[in-house]
Amino acid sequence: MTYQRGILASLPQAARYLSFNALPSADIHTVFAQLCALVDGEQIVLGLGKSLLQRLAINSPKLPNFPSYTHMGIHIPSTPHDLWLWLRGDDRGELLLSSQHLTRLLAPAFVCVDIVEGFCHLGGRDLTGYEDGTENPQGDEAVRAAFVNEPDSVLTGSSFVAVQQWQHSMSTFATYDENEQDNMMGRRRRDNEELDDAPESAHVKRTAQESFSPEAFLLRRSMTWATGVNGGLMFVAFGHSLQAFSQQLRRMVGLEDGISDALFKFTQPTTGAYYWCPPLRDGKIYLPTL
Ligand code: HEM
Repeated sequence: MTYQRGILASLPQAARYLSFNALPSADIHTVFAQLCALVDGEQIVLGLGKSLLQRLAINSPKLPNFPSYTHMGIHIPSTPHDLWLWLRGDDRGELLLSSQHLTRLLAPAFVCVDIVEGFCHLGGRDLTGYEDGTENPQGDEAVRAAFVNEPDSVLTGSSFVAVQQWQHSMSTFATYDENEQDNMMGRRRRDNEELDDAPESAHVKRTAQESFSPEAFLLRRSMTWATGVNGGLMFVAFGHSLQAFSQQLRRMVGLEDGISDALFKFTQPTTGAYYWCPPLRDGKIYLPTL
């Protein structure tokens, strides 16, 4: 197994997303090596941000900057961090204890800047009630979409991830009738059927993976998040590169044809970051230079 298995595995019942920034001038190498010894790729998925890659002198994966757009009244923020941990499990208490342990371990060199709790809503539905993940590639196609697969490359088995926290206004969503809501998604909530006559602004028309050139397949592993009365989707998508995601995002925003995604009528991203998820070798996180 050369990749972090949690990326390919089906969604857990519960999750935590932890973001960290490296402290200036701290000796990050020792602490980071201790973290890597704990990361199994399954219960804990690890992603490294661009500036951390630079500080660790890992030059191989070319991680682009997450784009920031302001277009047609839509704002897409770029909020990069150094380290991203996706803790996966079935028990919220265990995930809390794990976050406490990891935060303490990293404290000499990294400050924890964000923690979001995620969960699986109604067996994999967004808060709006729509099934999420239907058109994800499966089996070998999922492996091809999500992981770098270049013979003899140190990057083989690694993955690039786009992470965006979207905050829904459920009261705004409720002002639309069932037909209008289905047209925003381009699918019927009742039976998950794709609508043949969906408008061009429908989310699944904006993102139809086969409609891009080259085709833009992604492995989406998003989960619902909630804090107090706020909630939405923690959008998480893995790819062998970030090209598919960035093409889809541009089209959603309306940068391609002036038509923006109907999702923006009731939800917006409040964060946005790219990370590189290293491969495993002999069950351990493998970094080209450490
Ligand atoms: C609040 C944010 C979002 C929600 C609630 C959402 C929800 C959904 C739903 C319900 C579907 C239809 C079922 C499925 O195939 O999964 C879907 C499809 C899809 N979404 Fe999203 N999505 C969101 C954001 C995004 C973003 C930011 C992207 C990429 C930039 C994206 C990419 C896709 C893709 C690639 C598909 C499958 C399209 C196809 O090939 O048919 N989604 N999404």
